Amino acid sequence: MQRLLITGGAGFIGSHSVEAARRAGWQVRVLDDLSTGDPRNLPADVELIAGDVADAAAAAQAVADCTAVLHLAALVSVPQSMAEPAATLRTNTTGTAVLIEAARQANVRRFVLASTCAVYGDLPGRKDEASPVQPLSPYAASKLMAEQWLQLYARAYGMETVIFRYFNVYGPRQRADSPYSGVIAKWCDAVQSSAPCIIFGDGEQTRDFVSVHDVAAANIAALAGDWRGEDGAWGGVFQVGVGVSVSLNQLLDTLQQAAGYPITREYRPARAGDIVHSAGSSDRLRQRGWQPRVDLETGLRELLRDW
Ligand SMILES: NC(=O)c1ccc[n+]([C@@H]2O[C@H](COP(=O)([O-])OP(=O)(O)OC[C@H]3O[C@@H](n4cnc5c(N)ncnc54)[C@H](O)[C@@H]3O)[C@@H](O)[C@H]2O)c1
Repeated sequence: MQRLLITGGAGFIGSHSVEAARRAGWQVRVLDDLSTGDPRNLPADVELIAGDVADAAAAAQAVADCTAVLHLAALVSVPQSMAEPAATLRTNTTGTAVLIEAARQANVRRFVLASTCAVYGDLPGRKDEASPVQPLSPYAASKLMAEQWLQLYARAYGMETVIFRYFNVYGPRQRADSPYSGVIAKWCDAVQSSAPCIIFGDGEQTRDFVSVHDVAAANIAALAGDWRGEDGAWGGVFQVGVGVSVSLNQLLDTLQQAAGYPITREYRPARAGDIVHSAGSSDRLRQRGWQPRVDLETGLRELLRDW
């Protein structure tokens, strides 16, 4: 059995990736500092190293005997990154640099990074991998620098690196208990407690919502086979989204359909800094055989059932 390190494996996307990796036959190890992750998200028999990705000793211990690394650990909140830019840089950029160097020294072959559509900033229109980047937060900038570090490791050291830019991921285990949580988690929480769903602005802002199950499937697919980019080099970028723009008003309609009863909506003034439209094409990923399998209504129904 080949061993895979998943950093951030106790978190939302990480824990689903752990399950998908085990189903695919990987022996999984997790490195997670448990800052937002929870060990209860993990199967009891998964090896968990409680440590920091930016700590060289923890990173070296974690990558030992691994064939591949799926690097998800990060400080993930945009508002928190605005308040703590240096901490964001340390975890997201230095953490990636420390981990990938440990991986290189341990002869790890494949290294996959979770990056984000936030690198495009407020760029209007539908994004593809060649769209210009313009980070508007320390979070987005720190991820873009991490991407460049992976591209460097492909060029300078011949490492098989792959960069995924996720759009808005939703699904079970996404936390709703923080002011930074995603809109779907917050609304599911509101629906279950019969509270109104709050919309900032007119609700016509759009997002590309992708199920965590489909994201985990993409993560595992990227661990094997040829994932060189368009130019034939490793370090290529792949957007991970459904490719469909959904407005927040439409999202609430779908949530109401999934719930089966009326949901109260409350409109509040738009928040400064909120991106208006975010949608991208997943054509490049689809060309590698990936297809989103969970449509929004099915995904929301699953969420409400298990909330
Ligand atoms: N959720 C989304 O919509 C989304 C969108 C784009 C990109 N991403 C990226 O996907 C990845 C996973 O995000 P998530 O939504 O599952 O968030 P999450 O907070 O649930 O997961 C992050 C995990 O990393 C761990 N972690 C944080 N700092 C660490 C450190 N220094 N050392 C070790 N572990 C550390 C946390 O404890 C947590 O388990 C992140 O890299 C994030 O930037 C997520």
